[in-house]
Amino acid sequence: MGALWMVAMVFVLLNIGLCNGGKTSPYVRKLYASDDLPKDTFPSPPGFNAPEQVHITQGDYDGRGVIISWVTPVMKHPDVVSYWAAGAEGKHKHKHTVHSVITTYKYYNYNSGYIHHATIKGLEYDTKYFYEIGQGNSARQFHFTTPPKIGPDVPYTFGVIGDLGQTFDSYETLKHYMANPKAQAMLFVGDLSYADDHPNHDNERWDEWGRFVEKSTAYQPWIWAAGNHELDFAPEIEENVPFKPYLHRYHTPYQESQSTSPLWYSIRRASAHIIVLSSYSAFAIYTPQYTWLEKELSKVNRAETPWLIVLLHSPWYNSNSYHYMEGEAMRVTFEPWFVQHKVDLVFAGHVHSYERSVSCSNLHLVDLC
Ligand SMILES: [Fe+2]
Repeated sequence: MGALWMVAMVFVLLNIGLCNGGKTSPYVRKLYASDDLPKDTFPSPPGFNAPEQVHITQGDYDGRGVIISWVTPVMKHPDVVSYWAAGAEGKHKHKHTVHSVITTYKYYNYNSGYIHHATIKGLEYDTKYFYEIGQGNSARQFHFTTPPKIGPDVPYTFGVIGDLGQTFDSYETLKHYMANPKAQAMLFVGDLSYADDHPNHDNERWDEWGRFVEKSTAYQPWIWAAGNHELDFAPEIEENVPFKPYLHRYHTPYQESQSTSPLWYSIRRASAHIIVLSSYSAFAIYTPQYTWLEKELSKVNRAETPWLIVLLHSPWYNSNSYHYMEGEAMRVTFEPWFVQHKVDLVFAGHVHSYERSVSCSNLHLVDLC
């Protein structure tokens, strides 16, 4: 089995008395969360209608696709991304262009900018690509590297972050992550902007968050899972559509894994098969998420992807009293399948305190020997 390294940042809670996974760091977090950074800490880039909030994610099942997303604040156009493999600069025939799909939304008294999503497929594996969006003085250029071809011995390094928000601590977390040169893609386990902590879910905080994380999200794919702070369900202000801002802003390649919702889907990358679940969508028997997961687990080929990783937001194991038992219904529903299919790693967020455990099944330690 190939080496697959996990760079753990703010993450995951998996611990009960019987399943103690030990300690790896003397770090103890502060008792209280820090305040949100002031608005406009991350201003829009200079230039008329300059693209901002740039982020990428995997755009297909096996890693040869990328979804490039950005926001233009004033007008739709330009709606094109041009891209080329490193080393092909100046050779016009090697430049490709793709048009974006554009969406906008209203939320209470907020009107979004033009949100672009451009899907590129058929890229070469293990190749650095540059891409450019915007035009003239507003043009901006970024780059990413595609993963190696799927295979059992392919090393790859993921970062893991959840519950990032946009506080002074969030800033330190992202800075710490980016200081590590090993991580090649991010597994994000939900709760992005915390815009809903502000009056009327101030959606300008979604824009602020997009600009805050761009320094990483524009250059390496962040694999998105939705948390409770993505719900933005607020009937008191007549916002009755769950996940509205999130679904407009963060696209996922869900159809590539035959999912019917962007909130649950699967990708394969290097030596890992990664399944993303939604803690806040229906998951009982007969529901779309349930039937999809049952099929997807049967498709896992350990000879190609020996690592089976699940991302979800609300942890199934957690020693804190905060959010206690919130993940229990999903655990009862899906854990027997996870045991049967030998899921290697479950990453969750939600409780802002790092914990980990060895393998557990139905609240007890599992002996894997
Ligand atoms: Fe949460």
